Amino acid sequence: MEVLFKNISSLVTICRNGEPFLIGEKMNNLNEIKNGAILFDEKILWIGETTEAEEKLRFGKFKPDKVYDLSGKCVFPGFIDSHTHLVFAGDRSDEFALRVAGATYQEIAAIGGGILKTVAATRSATEDELLLNASRFLKNAIIHGTVAIEIKSGYGLDIETEIKILRVIHKLAENFPIDIVPTFLGAHDFPPEYRNRPDAYVDLICKEMIPRVADEKLAIYCDCFVDKGYFTIDQAKRIFDTAIKYGLKIRMHADELADVGAAKFAAEIGAVSADHLLFVSDESLNAMKQAGTVATLLPGTSYFIRLPYAPAKKIVEKEIPIALATDFNPGSCFTENMQIILSLAVTNLGLNCQQALVASTLNGAYSLGLSHRLGSIEVGKDATFAIFDCPSYIELFYHFGVNHVESVWIKGKRYI
Ligand code: NIG
Ligand code: FE
Repeated sequence: MEVLFKNISSLVTICRNGEPFLIGEKMNNLNEIKNGAILFDEKILWIGETTEAEEKLRFGKFKPDKVYDLSGKCVFPGFIDSHTHLVFAGDRSDEFALRVAGATYQEIAAIGGGILKTVAATRSATEDELLLNASRFLKNAIIHGTVAIEIKSGYGLDIETEIKILRVIHKLAENFPIDIVPTFLGAHDFPPEYRNRPDAYVDLICKEMIPRVADEKLAIYCDCFVDKGYFTIDQAKRIFDTAIKYGLKIRMHADELADVGAAKFAAEIGAVSADHLLFVSDESLNAMKQAGTVATLLPGTSYFIRLPYAPAKKIVEKEIPIALATDFNPGSCFTENMQIILSLAVTNLGLNCQQALVASTLNGAYSLGLSHRLGSIEVGKDATFAIFDCPSYIELFYHFGVNHVESVWIKGKRYI
């Protein structure tokens, strides 16, 4: 079925020359067509101005089955949320209350809260319970304009539960039409039974978990939380060397709580992306630039656990590709809403509107290996769009805290 969108007040295509990602100054030249039109089936067939589309209709060159008038609306490629921890059980609202009363993320972890509290709840949940929870969260993400998402395991920390979580991620991919990219994060923390012998847990990850995950084709990426109080670079190296040997690609939690040189290590080991980077050093950034590592910034986490923001301006100046994502998880950032992340990106992180849009679409898609199909509105790409009920993309930032999504289209079909 062919569909024509016409009279689109603002058609934000992001780029127009098939660029896989945009860096530095190029992030400021967001491509936008006023009074635009798109012809599509499952793929985008044609993009241009409405006057041109009307002419083609008149001369019988376009014969769409359906025509939509999108006056007053903004059409956008949809958000690519390239970093989430969406599958878990249990509740951590008590920690949030403690934190706003002054406790730090680490203090809460030390008194039995934090990742391990979610691990206990996730271990005792059934696959169906996890699926139900995760489906609600995923629906929320899509309602707010997310059209592709990366989801990590990491709240199991034993073989059985890590596999259970990855299976749930695969079920989500069967039940929802959007792209879902699974990441194995067995190295999210040390489980209680290995607290006093961390290297034995690294052995378990390398000798049993990774081979099993790879064998059952349950993940594309392997992640590790390399930070103060979590995994050391030496431990991460063992994990990533094994993951690479088993055909997994690497993305990494790096320098979120302190500068431990994790981002430099990410660059050296060939990680696709180093994420968080609140305390990243110049030396690490230079290594990332050299290696072409994506910097995935998660300003919702800085906001939610009240930490400093990553040096985003510097990262743009160094021409490192920046992606923006939610980090959706029950402890450090409990929102599925990419529009909130955009708002924080311009008010607190220091990006401008154009940079934030590029980072949350094309560059996120690039970091997940999807930018040949998603992340921009260009001929040949998937006909996947988020339509906003506002005439200009600036409104997304200016009118904050409300949901601007009017509809979401996935591969040529309206989903929401
Ligand atoms: O990305 N940094 C590690 N993991 C999460 C937090 C997970 C949690 O607190 O449950 C993060 O911030
Ligand atoms: Fe995270």
